[in-house]
Amino acid sequence: MLVLLAEIYKELDYIDKRILLLLDKLLIRYEYVPLSVIEGSINVPPRELALRLGRLSEMKLIKRSLTSRTGYRLTFLGLDCLALDDLVRDGVIAYLGSSIGMGKESEVYIAKSSKEALLAVKFYRIGKASFQKVSRVRQYLTNERSWLIRSKLAAEREYSVLSELPRYTENVPRAFGWSRHAVVMSFINGVELYRCRELRKPTEVLYGIFNALRAAFIHLGIVHSDLSEYNVVVSIVDEVPYIIDWPQYVYRDNPLHLEYLKRDVLYVIKFFKRRYGVSIDVGKALRFVKGEVNEVIG
Ligand SMILES: Nc1ncnc2c1ncn2[C@@H]1O[C@H](COP(=O)(O)OP(=O)(O)OP(=O)(O)O)[C@@H](O)[C@H]1O
Ligand SMILES: [Mg+2]
Repeated sequence: MLVLLAEIYKELDYIDKRILLLLDKLLIRYEYVPLSVIEGSINVPPRELALRLGRLSEMKLIKRSLTSRTGYRLTFLGLDCLALDDLVRDGVIAYLGSSIGMGKESEVYIAKSSKEALLAVKFYRIGKASFQKVSRVRQYLTNERSWLIRSKLAAEREYSVLSELPRYTENVPRAFGWSRHAVVMSFINGVELYRCRELRKPTEVLYGIFNALRAAFIHLGIVHSDLSEYNVVVSIVDEVPYIIDWPQYVYRDNPLHLEYLKRDVLYVIKFFKRRYGVSIDVGKALRFVKGEVNEVIG
C-alpha cells in the first residue's frame, strides 16, 4: 500500500494537487463538493478538468457522488498524498518506505529523513474498518468525510503529545512533524509488548512504562487512557519500552482521569504478573505515576 502511495504521488502534477487541496479545504462545508464549485476555483478548461477528475477518481484519490448532482470528495488515499506532499516539502521526510504496521485506526509506514534517520509515519484511518463494514450493507451511507476530519484531529492530538513528552521521558517516540491526518515520529526498532515472549529484565521494562505515564501526568497533565500490551513497543537492542498511540489522552480536569489512570496502571501490572511473574503493588505504582513518591518500590 505504501509503495503504491509513493507511486501514485509521483504521478500527480500541480493542477492535480490543487484539485485535491480544494476538496480538502471544502471538506468541512460539503459532503461532495459540487462540480460547479470546482470549475469556479480551478482555472482549466472544463474538458481538461473532467479528464483530470476522472483520472483522480480512477486512482481512488477522490470519489464521485452517486447522486444526480455531480460532486467529488477526497478519499483517505487522496488525503495521504496531500500530507505526503507537505511532509516532503517541509523537509520532515525525504523517502517513504513500506507499510510496517496496520492498526485498527491507522496505517504506519517506515520513512527516512534527508539525513537518513529512520522514521515512522502514522496515517490515521479512523472509522475506515467500520465504514467499510457499514457501507457493504448500506451503499448510500457515506460518512467518510467525518472520518477524515476526525483522523486529522487525532493526528494533531498525537503530535501535540509526542512533540512535548520526549523532553521529560525517553519512553515515548519523538514527533518530528505532522500534516493533516499524518504524524511523523522516530522509528522504534522493536516489537509490541504482546509479542515479547521473553524479556531479560521485565521489571525494568515495567518501570519504563510507569516512567512515561508519570512524565505525561506530571509535566503535561494527561493520562494515556488506552494502555495495553498492544500500545507498547519494546526496542530489540536494549529492551527500552516506548508507549505509542496517544490520541485518546485526557487531561487532568476530566472527572474520569483518575479512573483511566488506574485502569492503565492496573492493566500493565496484571499483564506483567501474568506473563512474567512480576509482582508490583498497584497503590504504590499509582502514587509513583501521580508524582506523590519518587520510587515504585518502598
Ligand atoms: N514509532 C513507531 N515505530 C515503529 N513501529 C511503530 C511506531 N508507531 C507505530 N508502530 C507500529 O504500528 C502499529 C500501529 O500503531 P498504533 O498502535 O499507534 O496505531 P493504531 O491504529 O492506533 O492501533 P490500534 O490497533 O491500537 O488502534 C503498532 O502496533 C506498531 O507495530
Ligand atoms: Mg494501537
